[in-house]
Amino acid sequence: MGMRVPFIAGNWKMHKTASEAEAHIESLLPQVSDVHGVDVALCVPFTDLHVMVGSAAGSNVAIYAQNMHEEQAGAFTGEISPPMLAEIGIDGVLLGHSERRRLFGETDRALAAKVSAALDAGLRPILCVGETEAEREAQETERRLRHQVREGLSRVPSHRLADVVIAYEPIWAIGTGNVASAQQAQEAISFIRALLSDKAVAPSGGPDVAPTVRILYGGSVTAGNASELLRLEDVDGVLVGGASLDADEFSAIVAAAVGTPEA
Ligand code: PGA
Repeated sequence: MGMRVPFIAGNWKMHKTASEAEAHIESLLPQVSDVHGVDVALCVPFTDLHVMVGSAAGSNVAIYAQNMHEEQAGAFTGEISPPMLAEIGIDGVLLGHSERRRLFGETDRALAAKVSAALDAGLRPILCVGETEAEREAQETERRLRHQVREGLSRVPSHRLADVVIAYEPIWAIGTGNVASAQQAQEAISFIRALLSDKAVAPSGGPDVAPTVRILYGGSVTAGNASELLRLEDVDGVLVGGASLDADEFSAIVAAAVGTPEA
């Protein structure tokens, strides 16, 4: 059907100062400039956004934030609003990363508001979901994913669901070197796609919309394992943490997505 363009996103987390970011993008851009048919994004710290938007202008690399407040403005010390990001030319925003949920108390309720606020501001949201190791061992993966998808997408209007990207990141695979097996990744991501076609879980979804939503895998992705993951039927791309900090390795992951059959 050719609807789902592969999507490779890097998540720098709290790495790289503005000058380090600038040096990095200068070495990355020539390595990915010939890549066609793949969407590439870097989710960077707030202080890097401005310089990255300038350096990436006119290139095929989109610049994303790693978090955002749901309100337009107000008494929220230390927070950044959707129009603040949109005005400086940011393309999208990572939302609900497990580190934000776990370390900074990010709730599903706030995420529902953030996803819809991002869409309203013209920012593409990447909503992260995923189970802990204990939940997987207790056979609670599907329950956890159903809950996170239902809550996170509860305020998305039907005509916008295809603009949301979902990242399945099992928490036990993040930063551990313990990548999910191909079977685990495909199973969880096809389960999420099935949730998107179930209007009882995703009111903005349905059998016609679910095949158009891109779902990424994240957790210990490297240049060595990306190809196998990207070949999986329901995996439309990868969200890359540690391996995105190195321009050579990240560009090798982008290259692995070239020619990945579109859905
Ligand atoms: P990792 O991180 O690739 O370093 O495991 C992924 C993420 O947290 O998005």
